[in-house]
Amino acid sequence: MTGRKKVTVVGAGNVGATCALEVARRDYADVVLVDIIPNFAAGKALDMNQMASVTGYEPAIVGSERYDETKGSDVVVITAGKPRSPGMSRDDLVTTNEAIVASVTKEVARRSPKAVIVVVSNPLDAMCHVAQAVSGFPKERVVGMAGILDTARFSAFIAWETGSSVKDVQAMVLGGHGDQMVPVVSATTVGGVPLEQLTTRGKISKMVERTRKGGGELVSLLGTSAWYAPGAAAAQMVDAICLDQKRVLPCTALLEGEYSVDGLYMGVPVRLGAGGVEEIVKLKLSAQEKKMVRESAAAVREVVGVLTTTS
Ligand code: APR
Repeated sequence: MTGRKKVTVVGAGNVGATCALEVARRDYADVVLVDIIPNFAAGKALDMNQMASVTGYEPAIVGSERYDETKGSDVVVITAGKPRSPGMSRDDLVTTNEAIVASVTKEVARRSPKAVIVVVSNPLDAMCHVAQAVSGFPKERVVGMAGILDTARFSAFIAWETGSSVKDVQAMVLGGHGDQMVPVVSATTVGGVPLEQLTTRGKISKMVERTRKGGGELVSLLGTSAWYAPGAAAAQMVDAICLDQKRVLPCTALLEGEYSVDGLYMGVPVRLGAGGVEEIVKLKLSAQEKKMVRESAAAVREVVGVLTTTS
């Protein structure tokens, strides 16, 4: 018994490895990396453990193509699945990634029945439904990573536009993790000053549009989807859960009436702590934002409708 937390990351590719490294560097958890490709996770783990002696954290990462080592994890991050290629929407991945996320969830859930599952694979909102149905976990313990990433992108654009430090930008992006996501301008401030007082409507609209298409911008530059910001965003959720931080963060949670959405995973502010989603925080939205949330929910529902996984 080490007394340290145990975090499993499934998928040792770009996003999974970035997340695993971020978590390992915090030094509070043993990290298990799993990937279906033989030796791939073991190789990444070995490299990260050797990096530890340079940057100064405990080398506590194991990698495997099997799940035995994942037993008793506190948090399981699922990044397994195909990323986007240029010209693809996240929704184009639904059938391929449904099968992968379902099989991975089955393996991790029976070995770590008390874990909180953090889903990262796309299309994110739909993959949360798959993970919850297959695990049978209560809704509080299956949560998706999208809002922190989308908010990070929005915040970066705002910092550049206003010439401010990104540390002083307080923003929130809600809704589904697709091109109809909802950057909540009414709740966005820089150093406490509402964004609407700092720049023009036209410039705000441009930043909102760039945020909504932020993933696609990266795909067209990289030829695949992004990983540094997504991996770091997933690690922030792991921190909040493992360290019981009670952070209020935009995450993908199962809504049952909140924000007038019922029976659908979507991005909302949540209080994230040891129990997973401990509260869905209600934010006052403008009429326009409410309409955008409804439109985003309709888009998510369409993708969820394609799923064949049942609980
Ligand atoms: N079990 C375990 N690992 C798997 C499985 C499986 N059944 N199927 C695929 N994988 C692994 C792949 O072998 C690969 O190493 O998942 C990893 C995915 O890594 P990348 O291809 O680098 O993709 P990445 O950019 O990390 O994106 C992963 O996260 O952000 C989302 O849209 C993205 O759905 C994608 C996922």
